[in-house]
Amino acid sequence: MRIVVAGGTGLVGRHTVEAARERGHDVTVLARSRGADVLTGSGLTDAVAGADALIDVTNITTLSATTATEFFETATRNMLAAEEKAGVAHHVALSIVGIDGIDASYYAGKLAQERMVAASAVPSTIARAGQFHEFAGQLLAQQHGSIAVMPTLLMRPVAAREVGEHLVRVAEAGPVGRAQDIVGPRDEILVDVARRQVAADGIRRAVLQLRLPGAYGRGLASGSLRGTPDALQGELTFDDWLATH
Ligand SMILES: NC(=O)c1ccc[n+]([C@@H]2O[C@H](COP(=O)([O-])OP(=O)(O)OC[C@H]3O[C@@H](n4cnc5c(N)ncnc54)[C@H](OP(=O)(O)O)[C@@H]3O)[C@@H](O)[C@H]2O)c1
Repeated sequence: MRIVVAGGTGLVGRHTVEAARERGHDVTVLARSRGADVLTGSGLTDAVAGADALIDVTNITTLSATTATEFFETATRNMLAAEEKAGVAHHVALSIVGIDGIDASYYAGKLAQERMVAASAVPSTIARAGQFHEFAGQLLAQQHGSIAVMPTLLMRPVAAREVGEHLVRVAEAGPVGRAQDIVGPRDEILVDVARRQVAADGIRRAVLQLRLPGAYGRGLASGSLRGTPDALQGELTFDDWLATH
């Protein structure tokens, strides 16, 4: 298949590109650093020409519901318009397990993205994954100083590599609307994971936990992001992943 990976230079995108190439697909990476922009639409027509499927793993880092919604709606609208014109037969969007009812902060953008994909004329699949093993590291990197603060978050983290492989299988299978969720093999609490990450990195840094207010904070602490028992389960635990990174 000819597969476009939008966001293919990012964290899960790199794994998705690698997994797709290993399975013999012809892959085009779509990112600003590769000359295409999903917000302005520049370079999209060329990138999707002749593609069988597009896997969307683009991202913006924000806790603002407005910023996230603007990003995911604009990006999704532009990609779907280019795909419809080019006759791309399958749009795959990566979203997040358990975010129903958490229509706030970053998740407001993901839910808006899901709604737009589901309503599109382009045949599609929404594939949801749990937090990546890299998630704690991403939050730690955004903070400076000797103290880091993690929101109270119950999760079931999964290897980004396993999510990338899953997305390629979803693209190959053809549009089904909604794929089986994928989560990791063990329940974890974000602050514990972040402390193990800091210890493994050999950094002296206190990691504190803070329960965030509002719908977003309640959602993170509720356990819903751990998914349900019918989800696919990745094999690599956070500790096994940490030992190899
Ligand atoms: N982090 C998690 O734990 C987690 C869990 C489940 C699902 N997800 C989902 O996974 C997706 C990817 O997350 P990630 O952490 O892998 O992302 P990331 O590392 O931040 O990568 C983002 C990618 O998007 C591209 N991009 C950003 N703006 C763009 C634009 N205007 N035009 C074209 N490309 C653009 C970036 O490339 P350029 O900068 O070169 O443009 C990069 O390739 C997100 O949708 C997220 O919701 C994340």
